[in-house]
Amino acid sequence: IAVEIHPSAKEGSKAVAQEIATLIREKQAAKQNCVLGMATGSTPKYLYAELVRLHKEEGLSFKNVVTFNLDEYYPIEPDALQSYNRFMKEQLFNHIDIPEGNYHIPDGTVPKEKIKQYCEDYEKRIEAAGGMDLQILGIGNNGHIGFNEPGANINSHTRLVTLDNSTRLANAYEFPNMSQVPRLAITMGISSIFKAKSVILMAWGSHKAKIVRRSVEGHSTDQVPASLLQQHPNCKFVIDEQASQELT
Ligand code: F6R
Repeated sequence: IAVEIHPSAKEGSKAVAQEIATLIREKQAAKQNCVLGMATGSTPKYLYAELVRLHKEEGLSFKNVVTFNLDEYYPIEPDALQSYNRFMKEQLFNHIDIPEGNYHIPDGTVPKEKIKQYCEDYEKRIEAAGGMDLQILGIGNNGHIGFNEPGANINSHTRLVTLDNSTRLANAYEFPNMSQVPRLAITMGISSIFKAKSVILMAWGSHKAKIVRRSVEGHSTDQVPASLLQQHPNCKFVIDEQASQELT
């Protein structure tokens, strides 16, 4: 895996935003859609802020952009404070000119008996859009990508999963208390992520240094889902100096 190290999260995020802007403009010139896979959490916040700035100050248009988010808690209402639907609107979609209908975020309100069909349809919509040109990822402290926790199958598709306790703990700060953190989530699978033509995983801060090392330098194993990315033909990690501290 290629690793790009920046002095800070802000600088790393700006570099990724520039790559996305270039991709969007290339696709515009070719009269094609640009299909992006999106992540939530604290990691992409600067990236989305920079994309909003590029739209407002430098005229970057998102009219030809189609997006698919990785995951959403289950169950959750789309307007709940912790919902990833709400996050994406507040951080990005409400501030750019992406047409409504072009962005897709898993729905945390689908009735349980319809989830299987819903997930299959989500995969089909990605395929119908032509597959992801670029997938943006963060990384969990346990190496999860999307909500594919350790042990997730490399052939997994979009599905309902059980969150690890460590993940619930890491995300508890968003909720009034631990018992309110959902136990389930809808997530794209490892194979859904692998179908992206290119993948950028971002990681900031010293608390990510250990898992970045295990993912980049360790064996490629489903026990560290991000290490499976070693098998992707076009993946790079964009990290800050703090997250690079453990690399040899
Ligand atoms: C979020 C996602 C997760 C996060 C990961 C890191 O859509 O898919 O894999 O990227 O849990 O979270 P943060 O960025 O909050 O450290």
